[in-house]
Amino acid sequence: MTVMITGGAGFVGSHICVELIHAGRKVVVYDNFCNSHPEVINRIRRITGTAPEVVRGDVRDVEALISALSAHGCSAVIHLAGLKSVADSVSKSTEYYDCNVVGTLRLAQAMQQTGVRNIVFSSSATVYGEPDMLPLREDHKLAPFSPYGRTKMQAEELLSDIAQSQSPLNVVILRYFNPVGSHESGLIGEDPNGIPNNLMPYISRVAIGRLPVLNVYGNDYPTPDGTGIRDYVHVADLAAGHVAALDCADKQRVLKVNLGTGRGTSVLELVDAYAGACGKTIPITFAPRRAGDIASYYASAELAANVLGWHAKRGIAEMCRDAWNWQRKNPNGYLDQ
Ligand code: NAD
Ligand code: UD1
Repeated sequence: MTVMITGGAGFVGSHICVELIHAGRKVVVYDNFCNSHPEVINRIRRITGTAPEVVRGDVRDVEALISALSAHGCSAVIHLAGLKSVADSVSKSTEYYDCNVVGTLRLAQAMQQTGVRNIVFSSSATVYGEPDMLPLREDHKLAPFSPYGRTKMQAEELLSDIAQSQSPLNVVILRYFNPVGSHESGLIGEDPNGIPNNLMPYISRVAIGRLPVLNVYGNDYPTPDGTGIRDYVHVADLAAGHVAALDCADKQRVLKVNLGTGRGTSVLELVDAYAGACGKTIPITFAPRRAGDIASYYASAELAANVLGWHAKRGIAEMCRDAWNWQRKNPNGYLDQ
């Protein structure tokens, strides 16, 4: 079985490539490298002994997708290609809708034209918005409050509609909670451009000395230590969830599943765990709440267990150990070739 992974050179996609190759699948990475480094392909080969095929292309280019899907005889697609910064989605909303929504539509059209039926789509817990109830179940209402979140919701909707159309696709929508960590080899990992927006890569940059101090956004939330609570999930566990999703794709037309651990961790708990993993103190300073942040959310992981037979195996200690291992071995990310 050959699987196309759009966005396969990125943080999550590279880990899925490793997992799929280990599971005996052939992999085609389809990526325009707008937010990734070609060196990642060498790293995947070093881990697995096999380099994935690579097609440099844009997910909005139907003709290029059709020729890549046919030339490689793909039988399924995992669709990760997209833009993911909440802040940029406000200032560059046209680009976000074009890449994330139009890109998903073009991919669906290319799949229909080539007869490739199964698609696994990377969505986000951000589609839920402010939780009415925790843990967040898949039937919770969707009310994202950023353009980024709305592009994910719209991509979910268009895929769900196409699943019921005359030329149907089988759709598995995976709603990621907070993916962190890296492959245990430290050869692939998260390598954001510029100053990281997300907590774990920011802590890593402080630990390695590239940033002086972590700003903790808000210590007056209604949580036990006053800081925000999230459901961090190890990226290797997340990757395994995609293999399970592919195996289930043709059992049901549309499946929407959370990928999270079901456990919440506060900012201060994560900082403590990271300090334990790297053996250094992480300097922090308390800063005002970040606009648009939610106090606390975490997944219900029940459906993933029941339908995909998947659950996260790694805890916070392993997530911090592996994030630090990657950062320590690659202080400048993929530029350290
Ligand atoms: P990433 O930026 O590391 O990877 C995305 C990849 O897609 C990159 O390699 C980029 O070059 C490629 N890409 C972007 N636009 C493209 C286009 N138009 N055509 C072809 N390739 C394109 O991001 P990631 O963290 O690996 O996230 C992967 C997916 O998961 C994204 O869709 C993201 O929205 C979703 N997601 C990520 C998180 C997270 O915290 N990392 C959480 C929830 C959902
Ligand atoms: C963010 C995005 C969300 C996206 C998710 C991907 C926002 C508002 N939301 O979510 O749409 O799906 O990333 O993982 O950007 N924090 C600090 N200091 C920092 C960075 C973060 O204290 O420098 C805190 C935040 O306030 C939050 C927690 O750490 O409480 C996690 O933040 P982050 O890693 O950015 O993830 P999310 O906010 O969950």
